[in-house]
Amino acid sequence: MSIVLAKKIGFCFGVKRAVAMAEEALEKKRPIYSFGSIIHNKEVVSALSKKGLKVIKDIGKVSRGTVIISSHGLSPKVVKKISERGLDVIDTTCPFVRKAQRIAQNLSRRGCSIVVVGDARHPEIRALVDFVSRDVFVVKNVGEAKKLRIGRADRVSIISQTTQSTENFLDVVKVISKKKPKELRVFNTICKDAEERQASARQLARVVDLMLIIGGRDSANTKRLYEVSSSILKDSHLVETEADLADLCINPGWVVGVASGASTPDWVIKKVVKKIQRKGLCN
Ligand code: F3S
Repeated sequence: MSIVLAKKIGFCFGVKRAVAMAEEALEKKRPIYSFGSIIHNKEVVSALSKKGLKVIKDIGKVSRGTVIISSHGLSPKVVKKISERGLDVIDTTCPFVRKAQRIAQNLSRRGCSIVVVGDARHPEIRALVDFVSRDVFVVKNVGEAKKLRIGRADRVSIISQTTQSTENFLDVVKVISKKKPKELRVFNTICKDAEERQASARQLARVVDLMLIIGGRDSANTKRLYEVSSSILKDSHLVETEADLADLCINPGWVVGVASGASTPDWVIKKVVKKIQRKGLCN
């Protein structure tokens, strides 16, 4: 069996930065909290928790210490609340996420309606919409975009969740441009890293027998990679750790492609690869 790794694998720049900032803080200060998961990978969150990081969802229970803002960013209203409680803040928001927040804020101040292509429940988007003072609509796909009420007198700007697929983003842009608003501005805020991972997974899925996408099930970019891969190759599987390989059938002689989400650490990838090298046979 041979294993082919995707060109981009392991942590992206933003995740590497966020984890390094958290680790540095944990060496110097206590108590340290993170508001929600610092990144969407259970293994990494659990490793940081062992070093002392406490994950919280409600700031009301914290009266002293330092709060880490995750790489996905946080609503300015919540950041204000944290500061008002006299807590220190370490902001690990990825610079590319920050860029999208600034674009949305500036456009909104100029009176544009904002359409965000993404998942309304994802922390990145929940934070992003709070940077916009008025008329913001989150759409996941073409179907939701078609239902948007946009008239010919409207000034509309479209931006994207950083981990969206380019195809979906452009398809939504097409649908909205057909509504012929008075002004339409498009900002492709998809992160280059996410785009490159998708392209690489697509390429691999075309030439291998089985694809493994390693990453958290709640990680948006990992899910996107899985969608891209499984649209080409049915035998594509999302695995969080090597434990998820138990039910998989991998024949000797197969070529296995391995891709990972941006928040998957190298040590989890190595364990999965090691296990498939040993596996090689259907159960
Ligand atoms: Fe940032 Fe892109 Fe990673 S937005 S967190 S560098 S996937």
